[in-house]
Amino acid sequence: MEVLGNWKRTHMCGELSEENIGQTVIVMGWAQKYRNLGSLLFIDLRDRSGLIQLSFDDTTDQELFQKASEVRSEYVLAAKGEVVRRASVNPDMKTGMIEIKTKELRILNKAQTPPFAIEENSNVKEETRLKFRYLDLRRPDIQQILALRHNVTRVAHEYFDSQGFWEIETPYLTKSTPEGARDYLVPSRVNPGSFYALPQSPQLYKQLLMASGMDRYMQIAKCFRDEDLRADRQPEFTQIDLEMSFVDQDDVIAVNEGFIKQLFHQIIGVEIETPLRRIPYQQAMERYGSDKPDTRFGLELIDVSEAVAGCEFGVFSSAVASGGSVRAICVEGGAERFSRKELDALAEFVKTYRAKGLAWIKLEEGAVKSSFSKFLSEELQASILQRTGAKTGDLLLFVADRNEIVFAALGALRCHLAKKLDLIEPGRYDLLWVTDFPLLEYSEEENRYVAMHHPFTAPRDEDIPLLETNPGAVRAKAYDIVINGYEAGGGSIRIYDSELQQKMFSVLGFTQEDAWARFGFLLEAFQYGAPPHGGMAYGLDRLVMLLSGNDNIKDVIAFPKMQNASELMTQAPAPVDEKQLSELSIAVIKGQG
Ligand code: AMO
Ligand code: AMP
Repeated sequence: MEVLGNWKRTHMCGELSEENIGQTVIVMGWAQKYRNLGSLLFIDLRDRSGLIQLSFDDTTDQELFQKASEVRSEYVLAAKGEVVRRASVNPDMKTGMIEIKTKELRILNKAQTPPFAIEENSNVKEETRLKFRYLDLRRPDIQQILALRHNVTRVAHEYFDSQGFWEIETPYLTKSTPEGARDYLVPSRVNPGSFYALPQSPQLYKQLLMASGMDRYMQIAKCFRDEDLRADRQPEFTQIDLEMSFVDQDDVIAVNEGFIKQLFHQIIGVEIETPLRRIPYQQAMERYGSDKPDTRFGLELIDVSEAVAGCEFGVFSSAVASGGSVRAICVEGGAERFSRKELDALAEFVKTYRAKGLAWIKLEEGAVKSSFSKFLSEELQASILQRTGAKTGDLLLFVADRNEIVFAALGALRCHLAKKLDLIEPGRYDLLWVTDFPLLEYSEEENRYVAMHHPFTAPRDEDIPLLETNPGAVRAKAYDIVINGYEAGGGSIRIYDSELQQKMFSVLGFTQEDAWARFGFLLEAFQYGAPPHGGMAYGLDRLVMLLSGNDNIKDVIAFPKMQNASELMTQAPAPVDEKQLSELSIAVIKGQG
């Protein structure tokens, strides 16, 4: 192994071009590929900027040639030589017009044969990739994503700075705040039996910063939530978090539309038209069955409850009679497209969303077929067709149930169908705001109202009186930004009045004492003159997923966690010594968890 000595890198591999022909350069990186043709030898050298071919000729320097022939994949090299035009151009390589005629080579480090080849779009198992993540991160496509991620945070810093936001850090060792997920707890050694909670978000600190007169805050903030993971969720994720004073909803939305416009323009060269469309929550649910609708395709939900109320088909009539609904999706031209077997598969699909089945009508040429043909009188058929506007060739799919289940099942089904039918135009971005969320939702499990966003979200002024009479009907000053069916960010205008905040806590079932014990610092702060304020937070990981066209959140995080919240490379979490535990006054109960 050799040392760098006095060598200084002059160029990055991928940045060399025909303009450098004739120059002597020094490049450094990893051996991607080597080909020994007997008297000629080629090594592709890789750094994060790309590849350059090094060439060696045994007629010019035997010793050098011998050394080069010892190089294997992933050896770390430094090479000095002259940039020359290549005899055989490689059109697939950015630097394919040139090569370095190597004069000197230093082998800086050897490498074992890696467990998988370092190459783009490799289909190596995810477990293997993540176990050797440091090797996986050598892959150019992942490096590109991390470069994009860096640029997203850079644009965020630049944009929010230009709008007068200060980046202020908030602590990680904090008191539990209710964002709705389970907390990660950290034991305090010096306060036996007491625990910090890692922040689910900087929510309360940023509100307190507004009470402190900071006016506009932003932070690239780590958040920790012990919740069930999904393709777009990690236990540890990052937010672009912001808060502003003396604003209402339209002000927050306007500043953020400026950010989104700049972000899409600078990162992927896509021009976003602003103002973005806004859809009230209720409408999003009725039309798309989701509060984060993917609006890149149609397949909207149609409420057929009235058309089927009192019909012979018990599944439909009883759903309506018991306060639920029957809703349909009309798949244009779908009658021929879906076989019985495929319809059964769709029924299985909706069952994962707790629907009991999927009824259908196929309007085939000259024949109407249906899963409930026994009950499909001419009259019922006519009223369904009238309500849905379905015509010959179309397929109607129905779910009957409580609204909540109908929305969840058909909301997911429309996305499933769009993929199946290839209805999503690649490269298209569709952005919108969902507004007017309910302030509260009733939790059957807990037998009480819970905050839909968080307990610090302000109700709409005109709905405040309803807090006492009809809490479920109160609308919030809350908004989510939805991109291609993902909740990319969300926020709200906050309560800034101690009394209203206490009323909110009492609607949520906290006693006065509970509320003060948990959030006394906030309630107290509000008594010393807090300004009206509001803000939001983007899921940085999700933004990067969307901008890089990925659908797996792990691919946009340098060191992500697996489904069971473990990190395969370091094997965290892991047991700790008895000594460490006893210092923390903690005993582990074996066999539980
Ligand atoms: P919220 O809980 O909606 O709001 O989070 C804001 C955004 O963060 C992203 N996000 C996640 N990304 C990856 N993995 C997760 N587990 C995860 N959970 C959330 C989403 C989401 O829109 N304090 C409030 C914001 C505010 O009111 O200002 C908050 O945290 O993209
Ligand atoms: P059955 O009478 O159980 O044979 O059901 C007739 C059709 O209605 C089948 O296509 C079922 O999948 C469908 N079905 C059953 N329950 C529901 C429901 N709650 N919503 C929509 N379709 C249903």
